[in-house]
Amino acid sequence: MAASNGLGSFAATYATLVLVVCMVMVCSYATVPPLTLDYYSSSCPTVFDVIRKEMECAVSSDPRNAALIVRLHFHDCFVQGCDGSVLLDDTVMLQGEKTASPNVNSLIGFEIVDRIKSKIESDCPGIVSCADILTVAARDAVILVGGPYWDVPLGRNDSRTASYDLANSNIPTGDEGLTSIISKFLYQGLSITDMVALSGSHTIGMARCENYRARIYGDYESTSAGTNDPTTKPRLNTLRSGCPAAGGGNDNIAPMDYRTPDMFDNSYFQILINGEGLLSSDQELYTSILAVQTRSLVRTYAEDAAAFFEQFAESMVRMGNITNSDSFVNGEVRKNCRFINT
Ligand code: HEM
Repeated sequence: MAASNGLGSFAATYATLVLVVCMVMVCSYATVPPLTLDYYSSSCPTVFDVIRKEMECAVSSDPRNAALIVRLHFHDCFVQGCDGSVLLDDTVMLQGEKTASPNVNSLIGFEIVDRIKSKIESDCPGIVSCADILTVAARDAVILVGGPYWDVPLGRNDSRTASYDLANSNIPTGDEGLTSIISKFLYQGLSITDMVALSGSHTIGMARCENYRARIYGDYESTSAGTNDPTTKPRLNTLRSGCPAAGGGNDNIAPMDYRTPDMFDNSYFQILINGEGLLSSDQELYTSILAVQTRSLVRTYAEDAAAFFEQFAESMVRMGNITNSDSFVNGEVRKNCRFINT
């Protein structure tokens, strides 16, 4: 009897242990809370106003600042999720992402984030993550140059890590083929539709000669040959004179949307139909022999700005929701976006 009681209590203890382990496992998965629209409504009610005001100053002093912030957000989210990792400076203890090949000499605008962060820290210290600031600032950037509004889910933590290697491998480059770029979006849980709509960000901002030299001395002439636009050839000549075939001038810049470089509109897609995309990766969306679905999306967005805006807003939310589950457990709200807290 005593023996059977002993066995019974062992079984009960074992069952309890298994239950506790299971609950801990379930709980640790369940600890990743969903992002919410009212995350800072009581802890930092001024957050949206502060970001909006700083972005208004930045964009009115130079409209390209809108593009810089949108791209920073993209490069943040594609590496460990949207966790502010792209904002970290290199230190002796941490290798950041800023010198990875898609970013080095190319990503700029960090001081805009610094300015917003320091204003927010004086209003509500230690409350608002850099990752959230960047996400809201990107939304405001788009609005300020004429693009759509969307609600931004919030509650991201900042990472205490960065990944130089993932920055090199996850972020698509301007000379990359269509299927490879598609696979990088699918890997992040984003669709081909998301990829084409989000590429519409290239309706603002500039590219450096280094990233379009091969294109303007390569197939630009043939892809744009069918257009009746008499300005196409002179435009190509101007691009070439600013970006010599023999090298040099790598950092000379040209707008990806030559028609309305500072306006968020759908003319980028019309330019692709004209065969005048500046980056090879952009033109591939329309011209590649593999571009069946992407070509039809380019046509849709070129004809229908409202359809582009609607999809862009939805895809930005989806991109902003790429999470870093590690940061929910081990992350923090950085005091300074460039450094992890000590
Ligand atoms: C689809 C794959 C993509 C590729 C291959 C790509 C590639 C590039 C390249 C090569 C540049 C020029 C950088 C330089 O010359 O320094 C650039 C600029 C830019 N990209 Fe992308 N990009 C892609 C998607 C995106 C997405 C998804 C976004 C935002 C959601 C974005 C936003 C921007 C912006 C705003 C600029 C202009 C930045 C500036 O003015 O400095 N790109 N991109």
